[in-house]
Amino acid sequence: MGKVISFVNNKGGVGKTTVAFNVGAGLADEGNKLLYIDLDPQASLTVWALPTSAIPTYNVADVFQDFFSDESGETNNLNKSIVYMSDNRSIATSSSKLETIQNIFAIRHTTPIAVKEIIKDVRNNFDYIILDCPPSMTPLLTHGAIIASDYTVIVTRPAYLDMKGIVSLYQAIRYDEKFYPGASKLLGVLLNQFDSRKNEAKEAETQLRSFFKEKVFNTLIGQYAVLSEAPSHHLSVFDYDKKSKASKQFKSLVEEVLERVKE
Ligand SMILES: Nc1ncnc2c1ncn2[C@@H]1O[C@H](COP(=O)(O)OP(=O)(O)O)[C@@H](O)[C@H]1O
Ligand SMILES: [Mg+2]
Repeated sequence: MGKVISFVNNKGGVGKTTVAFNVGAGLADEGNKLLYIDLDPQASLTVWALPTSAIPTYNVADVFQDFFSDESGETNNLNKSIVYMSDNRSIATSSSKLETIQNIFAIRHTTPIAVKEIIKDVRNNFDYIILDCPPSMTPLLTHGAIIASDYTVIVTRPAYLDMKGIVSLYQAIRYDEKFYPGASKLLGVLLNQFDSRKNEAKEAETQLRSFFKEKVFNTLIGQYAVLSEAPSHHLSVFDYDKKSKASKQFKSLVEEVLERVKE
C-alpha cells in the first residue's frame, strides 16, 4: 500500500510546496510510482507541475464536493481528477474553488476524515502519495491531510518568527495522532532556506535540535536561485539543474526520507 506523506506548516512561504515537489520528484526518480495531491487552494503545486493548458477543470475541489454531496459517503472521484505528468508521476490538481469548498463543508462530522476517504481507493496504485498543504490548520485540508497520512514533515525556515508556531503545530499533530488512530507520525522537521553564515540560522537549528532531537533532518536545504526558477519551467530541481548544490541537498533529503520510512 502506498505511503502517504504530508508537508505542513501553518505559515506560508516557508517552502512546503518546494520541498513537497522536489522530494516527490526524487522518490519518483528512484523508480517509485508517485502521486501528488495539491490540497492548497493557492494551487502552487498544480501550476508548477503542469502548464496551464494541461490543468484539468475537474480537480480536488470537485472531488470533495462530490464526496460531501452524497450522504452515503460512498462517492469517490479522486481517480477522475488525476492527471499523468511524466515518467512515474501523476497529480490531482487544486484550484481556488477549494477555498469555497472548505468554507462550505467546514463543520460536517465527516470533514476531518474526507482526505483519508478520498485517497482510500487509489492508495494501492502508487508507492508514494505526497500531500501539499495550505498555510493554516484547517479541518478539511491540513488536519485532514495529517489524519490521512502515514507521515508528516514540518517544513520551516530558520527564522524566529517562522519557528514560533512550530510547537503548537507539533501539538496539533500529536493531538490528531491521539484522536484519530492511524493518523500520521512526525517523519521529521526540515530546515529550508538555511544560510549557515547567519547566526539566526545557527541559533534556530540549535533550538530545533534541542526540542525535536533526531527528528530534525540532518540535511539542511540552502537558499538557491535554481529552487525558485525550476517551477516556471514545470521541472523539479533534479531535471532543471542536476549538478546544482540544491539538487545534491535534495538528493540527500530523499535518501533520509527513504531511510526513515523504512524504520
Ligand atoms: N530553499 C529555497 N531557495 C530559494 N527559494 C526558495 C527556497 N524554498 C522556497 N523558495 C521560494 O520561496 C517561495 C515560497 O516557497 P513555497 O514552497 O511556495 O512555500 P509555501 O509552500 O510554504 O508557501 C517560492 O517563491 C519558492 O520558489
Ligand atoms: Mg505552498
